[in-house]
Amino acid sequence: MSEGLDHIVAASTRLSEVDGEAGRLTIAGYSVDDLAPTATFEEVAYLLLNSRLPEVDERVRFGRELAARREIPRVAIEVLRGAAAEHASPMDALRMAAPVLSLGRREDPLEDAMTAIAGFPTIVGTYWRLLHGERPVAVRADLGHAAHYLHQLSGAEPAADRTRALETYLNTVCDHGLNASTFAARVIVSTRSDVISAITGAVGALKGPLHGGAPGPALDMVFEIGTPESAEPYIRALLDRGERLMGFGHRVYRVRDPRADVLAAASERLHGGDADRSVYELARHVEATALRLLRERKPDRRLDTNVEFYTALLLHGIGLPTELFTPTFAVGRVLGWSAHCLEQLRDGRLIRPQSAYVGPRDLSYDSRPSVAA
Ligand code: ACO
Repeated sequence: MSEGLDHIVAASTRLSEVDGEAGRLTIAGYSVDDLAPTATFEEVAYLLLNSRLPEVDERVRFGRELAARREIPRVAIEVLRGAAAEHASPMDALRMAAPVLSLGRREDPLEDAMTAIAGFPTIVGTYWRLLHGERPVAVRADLGHAAHYLHQLSGAEPAADRTRALETYLNTVCDHGLNASTFAARVIVSTRSDVISAITGAVGALKGPLHGGAPGPALDMVFEIGTPESAEPYIRALLDRGERLMGFGHRVYRVRDPRADVLAAASERLHGGDADRSVYELARHVEATALRLLRERKPDRRLDTNVEFYTALLLHGIGLPTELFTPTFAVGRVLGWSAHCLEQLRDGRLIRPQSAYVGPRDLSYDSRPSVAA
């Protein structure tokens, strides 16, 4: 038995390979550090949906097809209004609005995938504005995917360096083997359910702090630490209380998560020279201290920096508040979920593991407590 399914291979995929020993992530044949900082999100989306990068005309056509699906159903906006009235978290609002994307359409796996990839930035942007008492902005077909997301949030056209930084982030997190949310999505479509149902389930899986919910707390920790001198006593106290350091440790990586390096470099480019440079420097110091103390505490278990630590720093540099970190992760990962669903529908079998029963046996209903009394 493998509690938590460690080391169990449950699917074949052409989408990404996570080499936990070497610290390497390959996305459909390309190393993440080669692809993520330079490709557009649309190119990476085409790659995952078609197993190859597009020619120029294909890229233009695909970008148009994606942009044409940015509008979300009116009912989705009503759901988001209701969620905003209750001050739901943006991840809960996304989980409530995602299923509405199937409204009024015939089920079609590729169409569902394209609709979800294109619609997620609109859902998150619309919700953020409603939550803050602002009117949603109309979708624009003339912006790239990353720029469109920032425009949906703020209503302003974003600067090129912020857009590039976000695009690098979305590309970096778009897929990552059989992580918990992708597994959840594959389990759902493995029953021949539809792609929108699978994506809705995946949003729920991503929300938890052991998966996609870590970057907010990771940044909070850096801010609470505040100065380099406070890092060691703060982290020691946290570990003494038996708490986990958010942004460190990984089920698969036994070395530094390669995505952390891509995002650290993007962060450094974005923070270069401005006032937030001090946050970047402090974060690097916190990271070094955390790694030293984790090694001291757990010499037998290699705990290294994961993607979430630098996600926090990069998204903060782009100007996103912590409440948007996990939904922004979903805006990137919905691509991987979609591509995995299509792959599962094409090649996969029903996913149905077994459990080891550890409860009692041979109890007698007649001797139940209420009868015995
Ligand atoms: N801080 C302190 N101790 C840790 C940490 C951490 N971040 N991560 C693991 N440990 C310790 C555990 O307490 C455990 O100690 P024990 O054996 O004394 O009980 C030991 O290391 C092994 O931990 P497991 O829970 O078995 O490791 P697992 O592979 O299940 O956990 C996980 C991986 C969930 C990511 C874990 O490292 C963690 O909780 N990290 C913090 C949350 C986080 O950053 N999540 C984002 C992950 S990346 C992503 O999903 C995109």
